[in-house]
Amino acid sequence: MERIIIFDTTLRDGEQAPGFSMNTPEKLEMARQLARLNVDVIEAGFPISSDEDFAAVREVARQVGTLPGAPVICGLSRVGLMDIDRAWEAVKHAQRPRIHTFVATSDIHLKYKLRKSRAEVLAAAVEAVKHARGYCEDVEFSPEDASRSDFDYMCDVLEAVIDAGARTINIPDTVGYAIPREWGERIARIRERVRNSAQAVLSVHCHNDLGQAVANSLVAIQNGARQIECTINGIGERAGNASLEEVVMALKTRTDYFGVDTQVRTEEIFRSSRLLSHITGVHVQPNKAIVGENAFAHEAGIHQDGVLKEKLTYEIMRPQDIGREANKLVMGKHSGRRALAARLKDLGFELDEAELGKAFKRFKDLADKKKDIFDEDLMTIVKDEIAQVPETYALDYLHSISGTGVIPSATVRLRKDQEVFQDSGAGDGPVDAVLNAIDAITGLKGRLQDYQLRAITGGKDAIGEVSVKVDFDGTVVTGKGSSTDVIEASARAYVNALNRLVHPAGGQKLKEVGP
Ligand code: KIV
Ligand code: ZN
Repeated sequence: MERIIIFDTTLRDGEQAPGFSMNTPEKLEMARQLARLNVDVIEAGFPISSDEDFAAVREVARQVGTLPGAPVICGLSRVGLMDIDRAWEAVKHAQRPRIHTFVATSDIHLKYKLRKSRAEVLAAAVEAVKHARGYCEDVEFSPEDASRSDFDYMCDVLEAVIDAGARTINIPDTVGYAIPREWGERIARIRERVRNSAQAVLSVHCHNDLGQAVANSLVAIQNGARQIECTINGIGERAGNASLEEVVMALKTRTDYFGVDTQVRTEEIFRSSRLLSHITGVHVQPNKAIVGENAFAHEAGIHQDGVLKEKLTYEIMRPQDIGREANKLVMGKHSGRRALAARLKDLGFELDEAELGKAFKRFKDLADKKKDIFDEDLMTIVKDEIAQVPETYALDYLHSISGTGVIPSATVRLRKDQEVFQDSGAGDGPVDAVLNAIDAITGLKGRLQDYQLRAITGGKDAIGEVSVKVDFDGTVVTGKGSSTDVIEASARAYVNALNRLVHPAGGQKLKEVGP
C-alpha cells in the first residue's frame, strides 16, 4: 500500500493562531509527543519571525530531530535569502532537516501585498529554492493562496522551482476557499500540466474556513497528493487547518476506499490531543470527531442497546485505536515512588530524581484527598508540577473565606528566592480575592481575559484544572494550575501566568513578520 506523508504543522501554523502560542519548553514537549505519534515531518516554526521562535525550532531540531528514527524537522521561510539562512541555522542540527519556503502566487496577493509582478515572484521563488538547496537536499516550496492563483502562472512557478531543486511541492488553500470536487480536479490538473511534477512529492495544506479542510485533503489524496499538512485538533490560522486525527483515522478506517496508509501510531492520537489542550489551555468541543469527549459515547437508548449486543452496530472505530481507554484506576494511597515513576514512564513522562520527588509529594497529597487516582490525574499533577517556566514565584500558603452574606477575602503567601511574602485581598468572589492578594504581593496588576475550569475526571473529589489568560499591562500570558480545591487551582494558574510574565521567554510574542 502506498504511504501518505503526514506533515504536522501544529507548532507552526497551529501555534501562530491567537491563543495557541507556546514557549520553547512547551514546543519541545509537544514535539516529543509528535515523534511518539510517528508523524513524518514536524514543522517546528518560522525561525525569522522572532528570536524565541528561532530558539524553539533549533531546540526541536537538536533534541527531537536527533532521536533514533526521528521525523524530519522543518522550518518555514519566506523567499528572502536572509529568511532561508535563518531557517537553515535553526533546522541544521536535525538528522533530517527541511527548509520550507513560500511566496504568494495569486494576483490579489501580488498586487496588494507583495506589490511585485508575476515575473519578479517567479524569479524570487527560483532563487530561494536554489539558495535553500545550497544548504540541504530536502526543500519544500509552497505557492501561497494557490486556490485563488491563476492556474497556468502557478504551474509555471511550480515547474521552475522543481527544476531549481524543490523536492516537495505543497499546494495551499490558504484562505480555505476550495470546494472538494474542484480542489481534487485542480490537484489532478497540476500533475498533468507541470512537466516535471513526477520529480517532486505533491502535498496539500488546507484551511478550514468553509469547514472543508479534511474533505479537501482526502480528495487531494485521491488525485495524487502524497503529503498532507495538518495539525493536532485542527488548530491553525482562523478556522484552523485540516485535523491530523481526522485525516489519519479516515484513511485507516476506510482503507478499503482510499487504498493508502500512514505510519502514524494512532494509539498516540488521544494523548497528543489532550497534551495540546493542556499546553494551550484550549479544549476541543465535546462533539469533535475522533478526539471529542463524546466521540465514542452512545447516548440514545436504541444505540446503547445495539452497542451492548454488538459494538459494530454503531462503532466504526474502537476507542483503543486512538489510545483512548476507559478511565483506569491506576494508583492508590500506598503506591510507592518507583511505582509512580514506572506509571509516569508508561504515560510518556521521564522525570529526573528532583522532578520525581516533586511529583511524588504532589501525588501523596492528592492520595490523601482523593480516593481513586486515574492516569488523567497523574498527567495533570505532573504537568503542573514540572514547571515549563522557572518558578520565580511559588504558592506557599493560601487561606480564603467566602460564603453567603460574607465579603470574600483571602490571604496568600508566595515564595520568591527563599524569601516569603504575604498579603491579603478582598473581591467579588473567592477567586477575585485570591488574585487581588497575589497582585498586592507582586505589585503587578493582572486583568483576567479568560478563565476556564474543568474537572479532570468524574466524581465530587475530581481534580479541577484552571486555565487563565491574563493581561499584565499589555503583555498577555497564559497559565495553568490544578488542585482538588478550585480556589487553590486558580491561584496556581495565576502564579504560573506570573512566572511566564517574569521569565523572558514566557510572554506571548508579537510576530511582526508577515508573508
Ligand atoms: O496557509 C498557507 O498558505 C501557509 C503556507 C505558509 C504554506 O501556511
Ligand atoms: Zn496555513
